[in-house]
Amino acid sequence: MSASDYLPSSPESVRRLRDELDAKGQRLVFTNGCFDLLHTGHVRYLQQARALGDALVVALNSDASVRALKGPNRPVNSENDRAEVMAALRCVDAVVIFDDVRATAMIEAIRPHIYAKGGDYTVESLNAEERAALQAAGTDIRILPLVAGKSTTSTLTRMQLPANSTGEKPPLRIAVLGSGAGTNFDAILKAITRGDLNAKVTAAISDIADCPFLKIAEAAEVPTFHVDCGPEPLRTTAAAQKEIFEHLQRAGVDVVVLTGFMRILKNPTLDAWAGHIVNIHPSLLPKFKGRNAIRAALEEGELETGCTVHLVIPEVDKGTILAQSSVRIEIGDTEDSLRKRVQKAEHELLPTVLQQWRELGTAPTPNLVAATTDS
Ligand code: GAR
Repeated sequence: MSASDYLPSSPESVRRLRDELDAKGQRLVFTNGCFDLLHTGHVRYLQQARALGDALVVALNSDASVRALKGPNRPVNSENDRAEVMAALRCVDAVVIFDDVRATAMIEAIRPHIYAKGGDYTVESLNAEERAALQAAGTDIRILPLVAGKSTTSTLTRMQLPANSTGEKPPLRIAVLGSGAGTNFDAILKAITRGDLNAKVTAAISDIADCPFLKIAEAAEVPTFHVDCGPEPLRTTAAAQKEIFEHLQRAGVDVVVLTGFMRILKNPTLDAWAGHIVNIHPSLLPKFKGRNAIRAALEEGELETGCTVHLVIPEVDKGTILAQSSVRIEIGDTEDSLRKRVQKAEHELLPTVLQQWRELGTAPTPNLVAATTDS
């Protein structure tokens, strides 16, 4: 078959497919998107979508609709090319192209049994018009997890990096989130300047508009983003969670670094960057999780405490420990004096772990980061 022989399906033929499946008690799965530069994240997502039912139809945004959504430089590949590549996947049964920004008309025409959407959405954050069309069609809505670090944007970002004839790995692309003084962030920037950490900070994100953390970022000319997380300190709105995710995606981030970010990071970011989010915590976890860990160690009469770099999972302060550094508690220590020494240890530990990550191309395992030091 030559490229010009390929023709996308019409909504009418997909509707016939849906009715045929329906008659056999089978289910049609529908999803939509731009699918501009196909990557493994897309393929795994589509395979999972197909597994939800008995056939999968993909509605592709037309070129005009991708331009309206993503700007004048997109798509990279034309709608016919994108459709042809998509239709060649074993997990895809039919491809239709739609011209609107929203897939509402397609949903109404096809009335799929199941609608699959990538995990950057929640049922609540789906477009209201599309959601209403899905509800009217009695469609079952399923949100599927995204694959960490895979996106068309990050592929494009990597392609824009200067060609490197020595084949040396590019700097680790990190985004840092914080809410406070920003001393850990400052330590990361200094380690980069010294040449101890081969990384590029592509975004600094905070929930506090005027905190020192963001000022440090501005001074270092790192792109800064304030995300209004809502009035309640312990609750972050779904819209804010999505906004954080979108900043990270646009920044093309390998590792998300939490440095005293006083909000709980949730989906879509947690799934999308699973295994690629680290937090620095001021205790020797699993001891003294949560807030006020330094005071708690003092009050418990501990002889030592320290700091931990760990992966972030939905359960707060419970992810895999990547490295720890211990700090002796001295007689007469106050919360302030102890905090100073714990933070000094943090400022060494966090850049060390990130540099290990950059060298290994993956999260270091604890025995690779020999970081238990007295300070
Ligand atoms: C750090 O000491 C970090 O361990 C702590 O917040 C501080 C942020 O300081 N994090 C937590 O307590 C998380 N539970 P910084 O803004 O100066 O880096």
